Amino acid sequence: MTPATSGGDPSAPATTAHTTIDPAAGDIVTPATRAAPVVLRVTRLSKSYGDTPVLHDINLDVRRAETLCLIGPSGSGKSTLLKCLNLLEKPQAGEIRLGETCLTAPHADVDAARARIGMVFQHFNLFPHMSVERNVTVALTSVKGMDREQARALARRHLDEVGLAAFAGQRPGRLSGGQQQRVAIARALAMEPELMLFDEATSALDPELVKDVLAVMRDLASGGMTMAVVTHEMGFAREAADRVAFMCDGRIAEIGTPDRIFERADHPRLRQFLSQVL
Ligand SMILES: Nc1ncnc2c1ncn2[C@@H]1O[C@H](COP(=O)(O)OP(=O)(O)O)[C@@H](O)[C@H]1O
Ligand SMILES: [Mg+2]
Repeated sequence: MTPATSGGDPSAPATTAHTTIDPAAGDIVTPATRAAPVVLRVTRLSKSYGDTPVLHDINLDVRRAETLCLIGPSGSGKSTLLKCLNLLEKPQAGEIRLGETCLTAPHADVDAARARIGMVFQHFNLFPHMSVERNVTVALTSVKGMDREQARALARRHLDEVGLAAFAGQRPGRLSGGQQQRVAIARALAMEPELMLFDEATSALDPELVKDVLAVMRDLASGGMTMAVVTHEMGFAREAADRVAFMCDGRIAEIGTPDRIFERADHPRLRQFLSQVL
């Protein structure tokens, strides 16, 4: 999260009534993020599974150092949107740009693009037979071609960042779920991504383990990482997000500052959703 989000800037673009806009959705920026370059630009993205449309004409920008939280009911398309961003799913229409690179261009280098985006899922998928450290270094040596010592140094630094330097030599199975998820975060960070995507990173954890993972995510947000975070943790969204997007039926139904989304929601479905989850 960039520091100045809460201050009302009278010259900021209005996010007043009817943020149910679509084409303009990507243009709503907070005072803190207005000047930052756009890291991710999604334009008119649509996705269907077979004959079933799941994402309709999504427009969205994420700016450098911005934390965007995606909230919304189950089945609204949040995971599908993240998967399209990471090219794990192929959209039928629209464009995704990461910096200057168009990821949806016909001959885009998918592997190169993916290496620039970190993804943390609900299930952390660590290799059980490898040490924590090796889990972090494996992509560095195999994908990035880094030498082993350099990769180890980087792994140690990122394990330290998530509070797990002391566990480098352990097998993941010896760690709690929350610790394993923090290893997964360190693994993604070690690739030095331009953008981090989180899909319900805390949903599979026992409640007492959630807060350490959220603390790491908060530190990343305040440290200037660019992040798109699907979450059911409304406290996190309210405190750590620069903007919150409410997804409903495959559309971004409302987008704005946490204050606007949580205190002055327009959309009836958003008000209903919040009344159920808060
Ligand atoms: N691989 C798939 N094949 C067919 N339908 C899918 C697939 N993945 C998701 N869907 C459908 O797409 C819609 C959006 O799902 P999803 O993106 O997972 O929503 P959310 O993450 O918001 O819960 C849902 O109706 C879901 O059933
Ligand atoms: Mg999902």
